[in-house]
Amino acid sequence: METLTKILFFLFYQIMAVELSTSINIKEPRWDQSTFEGRAKHFFTVTDPRNILLSNEQLESAHKIITDYRKGVVSPGLSEDELWRAKYIFDSAFHPDTGEKMILIGRMSAQVPMNMTITGCMMTFYKTTPAVVMWQWINQSFNAIVNYTNRSGDAPLTVSQLGTAYVSATTGAVATALGLNALTKHVSPLFGRFVPFAAVAAANCINIPLMRQRELKHGIPITDENDNRLGESTQAAQQAISQVVVSRILMASPGMAIPPFLMNHLEKKAFLRKFPWMSAPIQVGLVGFCLVFATPLCCALFPQKSSMSVSRLEPELQEKIRASHPGVERVFFNKGL
Ligand SMILES: *[C@@H]1O[C@H](CO)[C@@H](O)[C@H](O)[C@H]1NC(C)=O
Ligand SMILES: *[C@@H]1O[C@H](CO)[C@@H](O)[C@H](O)[C@H]1NC(C)=O
Ligand SMILES: *[C@@H]1O[C@H](CO)[C@@H](O)[C@H](O)[C@H]1NC(C)=O
Ligand SMILES: *[C@@H]1O[C@H](CO)[C@@H](O)[C@H](O)[C@H]1NC(C)=O
Repeated sequence: METLTKILFFLFYQIMAVELSTSINIKEPRWDQSTFEGRAKHFFTVTDPRNILLSNEQLESAHKIITDYRKGVVSPGLSEDELWRAKYIFDSAFHPDTGEKMILIGRMSAQVPMNMTITGCMMTFYKTTPAVVMWQWINQSFNAIVNYTNRSGDAPLTVSQLGTAYVSATTGAVATALGLNALTKHVSPLFGRFVPFAAVAAANCINIPLMRQRELKHGIPITDENDNRLGESTQAAQQAISQVVVSRILMASPGMAIPPFLMNHLEKKAFLRKFPWMSAPIQVGLVGFCLVFATPLCCALFPQKSSMSVSRLEPELQEKIRASHPGVERVFFNKGL
């Protein structure tokens, strides 16, 4: 009798181990997004540049695993790790709304390699006007491709809206960069190397609030912890926008603030004097090394869902919430991008 029970239990556990439960929520990130560690793991996986090298078959296989799983069909022998790996591969290549395969260089996995090339070149070729214009233009063209790739499925941007954004973003970026270059014509060579970084910081401080001025004026939706909408708050908008500006500048800083010191030192050495063309690849490599770590860690810095205490909201809104939802102490909102 005892042996039989043991055998039954053994079989039961075997079956449980083989057949993966269909209740794993693969719509959400794998790791707890309320902790820094969970967010860092999530973003390291999302920005993993190795995903651009995946073959078509690998993408199709992940596509099949995920579409099957969503229908409640589990491929036999699929482990939880394999399921999550398929989910991240699927998300890296297919658009969340339209399901179409995304343009390669617009994907999250291409962000680090593209950024490191653009940033590295921007920091090597910052001295002449044509080079500055060209790299700003390349950067904005890349942004436009990312915007296009990532356009939302339900409210698609029109070509003319995308075109307008592209032209104004490029004009703004070129003007800022040339303006700063003119202002810093006579600073020391070491300082000169920080001009691209200053341009990025300045541009973020100006562009993001400008782009989101509607939210600063009218507020952004706030909810309680169960996603019940409580109203719109401009205080929350201010916090959201400051967090985005800070994390953007922090994200750019390791890649743009460390290499200038090293390059300034290296370019005095015999090797780079002999092979000056090596400057750009070395700079790109240094920036890339910094970005591989900085991009996901800075994305993880603040949770996408930010929160603040009710007592820091606008007084009228506080009153309204206290009346309609007594007991709510913190409100939540999406910080945006
Ligand atoms: C695209 O948008 C999603 C959600 O809006 C965001 O999480 C992701 O970072 C964006 N991807 C890129 C490449 O900007
Ligand atoms: C490229 O453009 C984006 C958007 O304007 C900006 O956030 C980023 O810092 C730029 N990159 C560099 C290296 O200037
Ligand atoms: C990308 O999209 C953002 C937000 O929609 C916009 O502000 C920005 O100017 C766009 N960039 C380009 C180069 O089109
Ligand atoms: C990387 O590229 C994205 C999209 O163009 C941009 O938002 C981000 O600021 C860039 N990061 C750096 C460090 O330049």
